[in-house]
Amino acid sequence: MKKYILQVCLLFSAYAVAQPVMPMRTLPLVPLPNEYKASYEDVFVLTNQTKIVMMSDLFRPELELLQSRLKTAYDLDLPVVKVLPSDGNYIIITQPESETGKPEDYDLNVNQNQVLLNAEGNAGLFYALQSLFQLLPLEKSAELKIPCVTIHDSPRYQWRGMHLDCCRHFFTKDEVKKYVDYLAMYKFNTFHWHLTDDQGWRIEIKKYPLLTSVGSMRKETLIGKLAYDKNGKPMPSADKYDGTAYGGFYTQEDIREVVAYAKSKYITIVPEIEMPGHSLAALAAYPQYSCTGGPFETWTRWGQTDDVYCAGNDETFTFIQDILSEVMDLFPGKYIHIGGDECPKDRWKACPKCQKRIADEHLKNEEELQSYFITRVEKFVNSKGRQVIGWDEILEGGLAPNAAVMSWRGTAGGIAAAKQKHYVVMTPGKPCYFDHYQSKDKTKEPLAIGGYNPLDSVYAYDPTPRSLSADEKKYILGAQGNVWTEYIVNFASVEYMALPRMAALSEVLWTQPEKKNYKDFVKRLKMHSAVLDKMNVNYAKHFVKEK
Ligand code: ACM
Ligand code: ZN
Repeated sequence: MKKYILQVCLLFSAYAVAQPVMPMRTLPLVPLPNEYKASYEDVFVLTNQTKIVMMSDLFRPELELLQSRLKTAYDLDLPVVKVLPSDGNYIIITQPESETGKPEDYDLNVNQNQVLLNAEGNAGLFYALQSLFQLLPLEKSAELKIPCVTIHDSPRYQWRGMHLDCCRHFFTKDEVKKYVDYLAMYKFNTFHWHLTDDQGWRIEIKKYPLLTSVGSMRKETLIGKLAYDKNGKPMPSADKYDGTAYGGFYTQEDIREVVAYAKSKYITIVPEIEMPGHSLAALAAYPQYSCTGGPFETWTRWGQTDDVYCAGNDETFTFIQDILSEVMDLFPGKYIHIGGDECPKDRWKACPKCQKRIADEHLKNEEELQSYFITRVEKFVNSKGRQVIGWDEILEGGLAPNAAVMSWRGTAGGIAAAKQKHYVVMTPGKPCYFDHYQSKDKTKEPLAIGGYNPLDSVYAYDPTPRSLSADEKKYILGAQGNVWTEYIVNFASVEYMALPRMAALSEVLWTQPEKKNYKDFVKRLKMHSAVLDKMNVNYAKHFVKEK
């Protein structure tokens, strides 16, 4: 078998050498591969006579993916063989001769006789297929022309993430799977699933059924923005609500299905269970874990609530540990996101139990109480062999010993964490919040939370801060785009806000910075958008007018 691989490689090098030097051909590949030659006009012609040569049984799932794509898109059933055909015209799936230890790397080499897909690991072969799929014609025909190209590819970052808030608005299991499809298309490998917040608890927890029977529902939702008077003071009497009950949640069966679906696309799901703040939906169901005892209602508007988990009550931690135990059974990934953002401290200041905890633990203040909270939960999560990740507020009062930090209030939190030798995911509001406007003319845009993160600013982002030393830079795992959904009310709007900014971010995360070029990206995106059209994706089209 190795002999065949060698022959194939020799064939390729001979072919590559024989080509005249011509200008680089632009192909609709997003993200741009790191090593890529397409300097000629030749094509491979895929027909019903093409064979698939399978050199490694490891890649059976990817073979099945290829076969199913060829069947559904082109009605092709190609024979699979184990020996190289003598007459050319085949797709060959191989593994490198020696191990590289890089399971996400891949080669995709297309010449007039063959399409070679080569990778060490399944993820790499899956990415080879994603690139191949971007090159396939959109329409069915007897002769499918694939441009000749030589690609050797390898991702820049190990955390290539997208987030989706399913609390402020709920998206069905099938919509979440569609979102996962978009991530896979652009070679993301992490989906941060925001499952609990003040406005809705979205994950079934068997031990605490009220979390979903009560916490997944809110009685109504704010219409538009909160009202303010001339002096900028909130004017609750002028706030308008829709009077319509809203809710939804995922059963554990749904969750297992989505986790397995994502895994089949080499995407790890990081579930987020918010604490100590952003927990009002949980407290509406179980008010005994708050400082005041409630009663509460699942929130109907946006912003920060005053009520949070009581950090002075040991039973709060039992409750949270029970929840996390079920969460860890459902999500097999290394990281569990425990929130940590925007935790108001007023209730803790007024709570005898919280104040007793501060005294007993010799803590200086409520910031240190927050650190106590996160560290205690981290200890539990670590005892199960997992790691916690939290928003950058978890730095305040001292970082839990093993926690990773998601830097959202700019990059300072991420920089501070990396200097403390903690892992970091960069997701600064500017430019990684895709709930912000993408065009200056807000009158032509659907209502958004605010901000301005156009496509070019996302594309220009570099997640690794220059101020870090070479050693500190190793703690930057990657970056993530966040889609918060206060003003994103249905899945078509998710698509509009996420795409094509997600495509731009994919190139930030995959492609080495010296290879990136915004104009070239826009040119490729215009070509690639035909794929999005074919898939009926409601992507934002501002780039179509860009030169
Ligand atoms: C956040 O946007 N509150 C993490
Ligand atoms: Zn308390």
